[in-house]
Amino acid sequence: MTAPRAFILGYPVGHSRSPMLHGYWLRTLGLPGSYGLADVAPDALPGFFADWQRNGFTGGNVTVPHKVAVVPFLARIDATARAIGAVNTIWTEDGDLVGGNTDVGGFIANLDHLAPGWDAGSRSAVVLGAGGAARAAAYGLLGRGMHVHLVNRTRENAQALAEHFGAGVTTHARVDLPELMAEAGLLVNTTALGMLGKPLLEIDLAPLPQRAVVYDIVYVPLYTPLLQQAAARGHRVVDGLGMLLHQAVPGFTRWFSAMPVVTDELRALVEADIRAKTPGA
Ligand SMILES: NC(=O)c1ccc[n+]([C@@H]2O[C@H](COP(=O)([O-])OP(=O)(O)OC[C@H]3O[C@@H](n4cnc5c(N)ncnc54)[C@H](OP(=O)(O)O)[C@@H]3O)[C@@H](O)[C@H]2O)c1
Repeated sequence: MTAPRAFILGYPVGHSRSPMLHGYWLRTLGLPGSYGLADVAPDALPGFFADWQRNGFTGGNVTVPHKVAVVPFLARIDATARAIGAVNTIWTEDGDLVGGNTDVGGFIANLDHLAPGWDAGSRSAVVLGAGGAARAAAYGLLGRGMHVHLVNRTRENAQALAEHFGAGVTTHARVDLPELMAEAGLLVNTTALGMLGKPLLEIDLAPLPQRAVVYDIVYVPLYTPLLQQAAARGHRVVDGLGMLLHQAVPGFTRWFSAMPVVTDELRALVEADIRAKTPGA
């Protein structure tokens, strides 16, 4: 039997840290197999799937800009990918290609890991953003019985997300943030703001109750200005790196038939890489 081969499919994809983390698990678990980059332009996607057998792929991850475009090449997608409307993980079942979305599980597992009991108090979460990551966050939070208050630069995008998920998600204007924050148990940034090279997220955390957790899914830099402000005010903070690490677990388990663990050593390895390549991270 040939060793399993997995990939991260994107365009461009050279910046991805997925090969580093899957490579770490293959090495430390002593498993045969490989995980490589699949840098595939949109017009080359049909050819990529036509060559699947010849390349001997077991499955892989999917990132920007292919998360929706891969769906027509798959036999089916799971319930989470249907709810989110995007696929980030592909595997094979009885010869069929199946797509799923593990960002939801990664988002929640990271929160449970770094801020246990985060959902013990207020059932109200404020989510900034309305893109793909916000969909994953909203779906995960709804699954934990939270009400999601969405605030986004483009209100129509937030409204489309709220319509998709129903009554558990409501949209609000930015001026409503102080009032929303005063009732919240969780504040999440899912926008690109605060990321290296992007504008800062300008927000005053003063109205947020002390018990509220602040979660930023941006992980370059690791401790964004939002998290620094939150930590200085005494809030428990959750950074985005763990979401990346936890979302990788189900894919690895399917492709390589062994369940990996998100260890402090793995986190330190990826953190060191981010710091080495990010001035001031
Ligand atoms: N930690 C992880 O594992 C993980 C996973 C996925 C994503 N992420 C990170 O999450 C961020 C969002 O990813 P995504 O896939 O959701 O992207 P996306 O679908 O492109 O959505 C981007 C979101 O950011 C908002 N935004 C962008 N620029 C803005 C600006 N200048 N001012 C205000 N709002 C702005 C957009 O608002 P509009 O609707 O108004 O355009 C939208 O809500 C990225 O930084 C990504 O790296 C992290």
